Amino acid sequence: MAMDSGRGMMMMAFMAVLVVLISSLNATSGHVQEAAAAASSAAAKEGEEADRILSLPGQPRVPFRQFSGYVAVHEAAGRALFYWLTEAYSDPTSKPLVVWLNGGPGCSSVAYGASEEIGPFRINKTASGLYLNKFSWNTAANLLFLETPAGVGFSYSNRSSDLLDTGDRCTAEDSLEFLVRWMERFPRYKGREVYLTGESYAGHYVPQLARQIMAHNLKPKHSIINLRGIMVGNAVTDNYYDNMGTVTYWWSHAMISDRTYEQLMSTCDFRRQKESNECESVYSYAMDQEFGNIDQYNIYAPPCNSSEGSAASRRQSIRLPHRPRHGKILRQISGYDPCTEKYAETYYNRPDVQRALHANTTKIPYKWTACSEVLNRNWNDTEVSILPIYREMIAGGLRVWVFSGDVDSVVPVTATRYSLAQLKLATKIPWYPWYVKKQVGGWTEVYEGLTFATVRGAGHEVPLFKPRAALQLFKSFLRGKPLPKS
Ligand SMILES: *[C@@H]1O[C@H](CO)[C@@H](O)[C@H](O)[C@H]1NC(C)=O
Ligand SMILES: *[C@@H]1O[C@H](CO)[C@@H](O)[C@H](O)[C@H]1NC(C)=O
Ligand SMILES: *[C@@H]1O[C@H](CO)[C@@H](O)[C@H](O)[C@H]1NC(C)=O
Ligand SMILES: *[C@@H]1O[C@H](CO)[C@@H](O)[C@H](O)[C@H]1NC(C)=O
Ligand SMILES: *[C@@H]1O[C@H](CO)[C@@H](O)[C@H](O)[C@H]1NC(C)=O
Repeated sequence: MAMDSGRGMMMMAFMAVLVVLISSLNATSGHVQEAAAAASSAAAKEGEEADRILSLPGQPRVPFRQFSGYVAVHEAAGRALFYWLTEAYSDPTSKPLVVWLNGGPGCSSVAYGASEEIGPFRINKTASGLYLNKFSWNTAANLLFLETPAGVGFSYSNRSSDLLDTGDRCTAEDSLEFLVRWMERFPRYKGREVYLTGESYAGHYVPQLARQIMAHNLKPKHSIINLRGIMVGNAVTDNYYDNMGTVTYWWSHAMISDRTYEQLMSTCDFRRQKESNECESVYSYAMDQEFGNIDQYNIYAPPCNSSEGSAASRRQSIRLPHRPRHGKILRQISGYDPCTEKYAETYYNRPDVQRALHANTTKIPYKWTACSEVLNRNWNDTEVSILPIYREMIAGGLRVWVFSGDVDSVVPVTATRYSLAQLKLATKIPWYPWYVKKQVGGWTEVYEGLTFATVRGAGHEVPLFKPRAALQLFKSFLRGKPLPKS
């Protein structure tokens, strides 16, 4: 997730289209209607059965069902998005559908969300097997991991120029198209409660997709997507307030000197997409001379050992912010543990794993990577502020939760607090510590229309660092109840 930004930017089917024949046949007999309904449900069943995952290489036995495959989203270009559905452990038909997105832009929710954060499986160190994540979010909901936009992970476009011409807008449009067509393949999810979740640059994707769904639902003759709410973590929200909050975090956590802090505040114009050279050089000084070799995604964690593997060290160099590349400044904000993602890169490039997942069926001409540098570098459009969409979501009655792991210095808690403060929401339940297993999990405040919560001691990828607390947060969110006071 790197966003260019000059710093100013925070930086940072075949589709069983069940044509709605039936309604147009309203003059025909009930018998014909029943036959048509049975035929279309059989067709849908066939569609989803082709996507059924029997077992992944090295996978422990599990009681839930899994499906994965492609949904075409644009015929002319030949764009198809890859998804992986892990249904709930128990009673999946009564549980909501939760979509999870990672950020980047360009990073994969299979790599991060599914394999390191909220998914049921973790990949072991030799990438030869999987083991169970005890705090998987599919203990509470059906999880749909979507690799978006085309060019991320296994999602592809047959028109290669698409990878150089994508951005926030295309991501939201294709993701909506995906959801609409996916529901046709899985009719049992039609009308189901849907929640959108994600982290980091998905702070753009999730609200933008929510806005797209709300607009879709207003159009006549469309099947409605029953969107109920969204939840985002360490979310890129507003370039200006995020940048200001990030610099403030660095200073308040003693990562930079008073002098550097003052110079950043006086020379940078945090509203600009592209900062002045003078400002950039202060950023470089802070990062190169003052930060030291820390993991910026969790400032108190040991950094990944670069001797431990080429993928990890390569990733590390890509994600360093404020390193000019191709005339732009890259800033990775997808969030990940640089030590663990290389297992994913080994595992998901295995031909047997790809076969089991019904992935890469068209011989994509490049390897599967956790983040696409090409997309990241060529990201064309990015909204400067997502706050207006928060106002729309709140007005639309969606449940809106925002959380923040408080030891992340990439999209830190101060950035999120400065951004959310602009909404000027009335407080419903004043600031209090919330608990998980008798420990303070973090702090929370409930506003009219929005719940904010921190996760104490968690880095950028909250469910990776604090899995038990993250699951508590998820369950409270789904119930629509404030976090536990004890
Ligand atoms: C992309 O091209 C391959 C090979 O021609 C084809 O099999 C596939 O269906 C195309 N994908 C889409 C989404 O049209
Ligand atoms: C990884 O999983 C495989 C398959 O279950 C197993 O044979 C192997 O010993 C595991 N390796 C590690 C390091 O856990
Ligand atoms: C996106 O960027 C590419 C090259 O950087 C450019 O050719 C294309 O016109 C841009 N598209 C949009 C919609 O800005
Ligand atoms: C880094 O690798 C070296 C050599 O393999 C090892 O001695 C050291 O303990 C490792 N450090 C961490 C933090 O894993
Ligand atoms: C897809 O498969 C081809 C081999 O058929 C392989 O070379 C390529 O790396 C794979 N790409 C992805 C994205 O999995």
